[in-house]
Amino acid sequence: MTADRRPQRGLGAGAGLKPEHYRDILEGRPGVDWFEVHAENYMGAGNGAGGPPHVFLERIRARYPLAVHGVGLSIGSADGLAPGHLARLAAVVARYQPLLVSEHLAWSTHAGVFLNDLLPLPYTDATLALVVRHVDQVQTALGRSILIENPSTYFRFETEQMTETAFLRELARRSGCGLLLDVNNVFVSAVNHGFDPLDYLADFPLESVGEIHLAGHAAIEMAGGEALLIDTHDRPVADPVWELFQALVARIGPRPTLIEWDAEIPTWPQLADEVERAARLLQEAREWTYRSSVLSHAVGEEGTRCAATGR
Ligand SMILES: [Fe+2]
Repeated sequence: MTADRRPQRGLGAGAGLKPEHYRDILEGRPGVDWFEVHAENYMGAGNGAGGPPHVFLERIRARYPLAVHGVGLSIGSADGLAPGHLARLAAVVARYQPLLVSEHLAWSTHAGVFLNDLLPLPYTDATLALVVRHVDQVQTALGRSILIENPSTYFRFETEQMTETAFLRELARRSGCGLLLDVNNVFVSAVNHGFDPLDYLADFPLESVGEIHLAGHAAIEMAGGEALLIDTHDRPVADPVWELFQALVARIGPRPTLIEWDAEIPTWPQLADEVERAARLLQEAREWTYRSSVLSHAVGEEGTRCAATGR
């Protein structure tokens, strides 16, 4: 019996789950591969015991694979992780058994003050040791590995000792975590800091990528007339981000890909169109990977024959 080497449909294109779409999803049963929720939205009601959000999420979880994305753990906080928050995250993960769990490479709390932003970290040896320790703590608490997401950034620290890609590579190597590659974040940071996003992707530890994010961004004009991009998640994915995504998956093959749309929430059909576009590009990448593997297999057999016959 020959092995089935047809392209397989895995965890393909998904959408961020919003309460505005609960009924569209439950009644329409759309052909979306999976959904992702923000962990913090399901930490309430007696440590996740009940409440309407859980009623809907339980029903959607019964029909679709789920990912849990944390936005408030503040994994880069110098104060250490908040034990209560980590326990609540662990409860959400234990309850919904998501296929993927992720958090940001950022900090958002200090001295008991909770900020409403994901702030960047200085990429130094000391920060790396701190984040490795915190990721290890989270993975131990959850009993599984997590994915850490590259941030969108608006300024840099003079004290940096390594690039962001080097930091993430070393973080993955030391902690055993995977990486969530947010392509929109790459583009936003590239424009804001004036680097080529393709150079960033060329140096990214792509072998560790377990999930991809795509989202929309806004541009504002600075005093000097220069554009600053803001990671707003309030509109469709921009064309240059789609192009980067296409180039990325052509290189590494398909990965679970999520459309993030967290503000100015669109109608379900609008969001579904974005998911469908991602699904088409993933399918192209899947077919390309398949054709490449068949071709290299055939070339390998031909090479073996030539070696055996001397021709
Ligand atoms: Fe993201």
